[in-house]
Amino acid sequence: MQKIAVIAGDGIGIDVTHEALKVLRGANEKLKLELEFVEFEYGAEYFLKTGVGLPKGKMEEFRRDYAAIYLGALGDPRIPDMRHGREILLALRFDLDLYINLRPVKLLDERLCPLKNKTKADVDFVVFRENTEGPYVGAGGFLKKGTPDEVATQEAIHTRKGVERIIRAAFEYARTHGRKRVTMSDKSNVLRYGHDLWQRVFAEVGAEYAEIEQDHYFVDALVMKMVKSPEHFDVIVTENMLGDIITDLGAMLQGGLGMAGSGNIHPGRVSLFEPVHGSAPYMAGQNKANPIAAILTGAMLMDFLGKREAAAAIENAVQHAVDENQVTADIGGKLGTKECGDYIAARLAQNK
Ligand code: NAD
Ligand code: IPM
Ligand code: MN
Repeated sequence: MQKIAVIAGDGIGIDVTHEALKVLRGANEKLKLELEFVEFEYGAEYFLKTGVGLPKGKMEEFRRDYAAIYLGALGDPRIPDMRHGREILLALRFDLDLYINLRPVKLLDERLCPLKNKTKADVDFVVFRENTEGPYVGAGGFLKKGTPDEVATQEAIHTRKGVERIIRAAFEYARTHGRKRVTMSDKSNVLRYGHDLWQRVFAEVGAEYAEIEQDHYFVDALVMKMVKSPEHFDVIVTENMLGDIITDLGAMLQGGLGMAGSGNIHPGRVSLFEPVHGSAPYMAGQNKANPIAAILTGAMLMDFLGKREAAAAIENAVQHAVDENQVTADIGGKLGTKECGDYIAARLAQNK
């Protein structure tokens, strides 16, 4: 028996996690996977009631007793500084050392792509976003806060070990998944220290993977190329904040944030799976959110656990829902969140 911690979180996180769990539990029963899903109430309500994001000792418990964590989304207008988000999501990423933020960009149907004349084969790559460093580490401070002379600093940290392990992970992925090219993106023409390190490490690690094509784009040129020629990309590796931005654009190439799943991974350790999207408070609780990103995130979780048959079955059921237009309005369908989840769960159960 393997335990999965489930934190639905806030807003549409709650709506879509409900559907993802329906599908995951369906796969669990059908394929006799012996997974146990344990739900936790952490999120904005819990934070407003108790003043804490994650209670003391939870991180240790997750690390010790759980195989993976599933998260819906966090974000609530009543907590404008997103403190609970940092105490839950960023704390999980940092404390569990989940250095790979794996974000696939895969188009399931041509009609979902906002680009002209791009096919499913053209939009099919993965982004390896560094997930424990960069400007996200929270280093910095204020001087003379609240005065006209205020100074704010926000430092970006890049360590040799941190840069090397994410670049190596991207190359290993390319090698084991038959991808022919790894593209590194940074802003090393301006950020001459941190991103210079990225340049040097990419060349050094890349030399060990001579069979894989390697190229580099400054991030401004990369986003242009993602729109003009997405077919160029196989694997993109980049630092934390650039990866955050690039992957929302990537989500749009697939049909929007409702289609993009992700994993926060440290191979061999408890890892965290969540859709790329946030809590979209204005559509929360209205049966409108697209559950596919959350369901595909569930497939990524299954894949991480080595349950490849379950992952493939879930992906297959999602592909069917898209093919039959049994989907939500954001991607041109007429169904609600729940009805779309029901369709995918039923399809999985029939295994057609
Ligand atoms: P968002 O991803 O919540 O929503 C942006 C827009 O994308 C929405 O207005 C909606 O039009 C669309 N969208 C997103 N998910 C969708 C879905 N499943 N189905 C249909 N449409 C969907 O981003 P935001 O509005 O910038 O942020 C809202 C809150 O979420 C903020 O508090 C933010 O900090 C937080 N956030 C959390 C996460 C996370 O928990 N991983 C990620 C991003 C943003
Ligand atoms: C994401 C989100 C998070 C990030 C926020 C909510 C902390 O935008 O997962 O993409 O910036 O990483
Ligand atoms: Mn983001």
